[in-house]
Amino acid sequence: TSTDQDFKVADLSLAAYGRKEIELAEHEMPGLMSIRKEYAAKQPLAGARITGSLHMTVQTAVLIETLVALGAQVRWASCNIFSTQDHAAAAIAVGPKGTPESPQGVPVFAWKGETLEEYWWCTEQALTWPGVTTGGPNMILDDGGDATLLVHKGVEYEKAGAAPDVSTAENDEHRCVLQVLNRTLGENPQKWTQLASEIRGVTEETTTGVHRLYEMQRAGELLFPAINVNDSVTKSKFDNKYGCRHSLIDGINRGTDVLIGGKTAVIFGYGDVGKGSAESLRAQGARVMITEIDPICALQAAMDGYQVVRLEDVVETADIFVTTTGNKDIIMASDMAKMKHQAIIGNIGHFDNEIDMAGLEKIDGVVKDEIKPQVHSWTFKDGKKIIVLSEGRLLNLGNATGHPSFVMSNSFANQTIAQIEVFTKPEEYPTEVYVLPKHLDEKVARLHLDALGVRLTELRPDQAEYIGVAVEGPYKPDHYRY
Ligand code: NAI
Repeated sequence: TSTDQDFKVADLSLAAYGRKEIELAEHEMPGLMSIRKEYAAKQPLAGARITGSLHMTVQTAVLIETLVALGAQVRWASCNIFSTQDHAAAAIAVGPKGTPESPQGVPVFAWKGETLEEYWWCTEQALTWPGVTTGGPNMILDDGGDATLLVHKGVEYEKAGAAPDVSTAENDEHRCVLQVLNRTLGENPQKWTQLASEIRGVTEETTTGVHRLYEMQRAGELLFPAINVNDSVTKSKFDNKYGCRHSLIDGINRGTDVLIGGKTAVIFGYGDVGKGSAESLRAQGARVMITEIDPICALQAAMDGYQVVRLEDVVETADIFVTTTGNKDIIMASDMAKMKHQAIIGNIGHFDNEIDMAGLEKIDGVVKDEIKPQVHSWTFKDGKKIIVLSEGRLLNLGNATGHPSFVMSNSFANQTIAQIEVFTKPEEYPTEVYVLPKHLDEKVARLHLDALGVRLTELRPDQAEYIGVAVEGPYKPDHYRY
């Protein structure tokens, strides 16, 4: 173990394997690698202390080493208890030049299968910089907003001058957050206030985290500027869609190895993740049905050829159920009680509140059995079993390895550019939530064309004038939807 060092991972001996996979991934991440080249001399992130809270995968390792190559100091935690790839975490802790005996990498606090207590401890470690007067980072790179949340909650309690009452926690996760805040308030009643005062900004990866940021902005509670990376076109219209198209069936296959062709599948939500997920299952020959609350997305699903249903119409007959809504309480325990024998249930939305796991546990006589880590069967009193993947947490990262490198190169090129923007131009970003300007979005796409052999047509000046854009772009108005 590595407890006496400034990192904590499962097994340092996996570093060599992690390094080989990082090298394979680099080839598939042309966006990140060309940003490394472009900025190698300029070192735009020199002086940046970046705390990252994002799934500690092989692709994230390439992101971390890109930030370091641009001059940043980095500390990292995963943003989900099941999503870490232990070999990637080991390779990051050891670093390209270190050895397991003498690690020289980046302080990373992440392993697959953390408890919730451990998870929030890791987040706190990633936010705590030994030797820095204010104790903290000056940038956050977040996925789902947990690092940002911990800082904001800490400041809130410090302002109130009162430690949170742990007995008021709404659930296990909330209890763990309150415990961390209670302890830190005892140690240093100004910890989070001091730390927040140094933070130039946060760049946020996902729909759910972005949603939290806009809520804080509306409430006047946002403490530092934020870039919404998710809503770069080259992020949400690629990672959320094509990424899930790849990694949803990967998770179901590795978790269950059930033949998907011919099965009936229900996808809850037809947003970006829902669209990719539905296509993923349809391409395997499943009969896919959609549930939606938004008439526009419901109509899109229908026009794409999916039957749009309500859960109650199919709860007893469908074979596979996958939530993608970013909303809560989508599949309740009473629904699972009605499902057929061996129905498969999973979630690919960011948090684990889409499926009512707490309610399932409370059903009279239900028995949970671990088939293997992140795959459980639940047997009801009458003998019927259902299979729940990743205990209701995002199954593409819990049961498989998340999105592949090429799509993450788009997402992480946006992340890196967003970090450079906020860190180097704080005066241009007062405390609000921003999206990256379109010319940078187009740049990210451009960086990925060569690898796919794309020959882009060049706009002629007279044509550019005719459609009212510059030859070098941007080619679309901000309201264009792609
Ligand atoms: P989105 O907003 O584009 O789509 C969500 C859809 O769910 C919307 O169309 C909404 O109308 C629908 N919806 C909301 N409540 C519903 C309900 N009760 N029943 C049926 N449909 C409902 O969001 P996006 O980008 O698709 O993200 C969804 C979730 O997935 C978020 O939590 C996001 O953070 C997460 N995500 C996960 C990824 C992964 O790799 N697992 C990758 C990217 C995003």
